[in-house]
Amino acid sequence: MGAPGCGKGSMADRIEKEYGYPKVSTGGLLRDAVRNGTPLGLEAASQLGKGKLVEDRIVLALLRERLEKEDCRAGYTLDGFPRNLSQAVSLKEMDGRRPEAVFDIAVDEETIVKRILSRLTCGRCDAIYNSVAKPPKNDMICDVCGGPVIRRKDDDPVVIKERMRTYHEQTEPLIAYYDKGGSLHRIDGNGTVDETYAPIRKVLDRMLGGERGRGAGR
Ligand code: AP5
Ligand code: MG
Repeated sequence: MGAPGCGKGSMADRIEKEYGYPKVSTGGLLRDAVRNGTPLGLEAASQLGKGKLVEDRIVLALLRERLEKEDCRAGYTLDGFPRNLSQAVSLKEMDGRRPEAVFDIAVDEETIVKRILSRLTCGRCDAIYNSVAKPPKNDMICDVCGGPVIRRKDDDPVVIKERMRTYHEQTEPLIAYYDKGGSLHRIDGNGTVDETYAPIRKVLDRMLGGERGRGAGR
């Protein structure tokens, strides 16, 4: 969890790479559905990119479909879900055992805006880049899939303000919700990617039993 641009996707990529728990990003699922013109994607298209939450019904349908896939059976890393209380309740109904750990990544707003404005994204596979810190190796070509590297439609100063507003209003209250449940870990995300990931890794190693946990989801 965390505000737009705090590094949720980057951390979920790290967890997937190291532990094998696939990254399940609801933002990514929505962008994919829109790209592929699926029935849910056609519905989501008019709602996405404006900085407001997409309807729960659409997000939940995409998420259910994704979590049913074989690779999620041993566990998964949610990125950008839940984003309001009703989604948190739905997650509990969908998978009562989870979430086992919730990471709230806190980053100063000024840093967030800088990161979002320099973020680049693969228009095909959603891989994350940064024009300053992590540019693609070949000019605007994705290192992972060879797709075109673009700027996301919602990475625009006006939409960023709306995304932040939506976050404070609807998602931030979930921090207290998960804190009460005892699964919350507060992470300082102001440092480098490595510095931010280190405490997350520590928690996961403790939960999963060190080396034995690595690759557990594979
Ligand atoms: P989503 O795609 O989830 O966007 P977001 O929450 O706004 O978050 P971002 O993806 O922008 O940022 P991030 O935290 O993943 O940061 P990243 O790792 O990329 O959602 C998009 C939209 O979809 C929503 O606005 C909404 O409309 C809809 N939606 C999604 N989920 C929904 C849901 N559950 N319900 C309803 N609607 C939903 O990092 C950002 C940049 O910074 C990158 O360039 C990265 O390289 C760089 N960076 C990361 N960490 C560091 C670091 N430590 N140091 C330096 N640079 C860093
Ligand atoms: Mg993201």
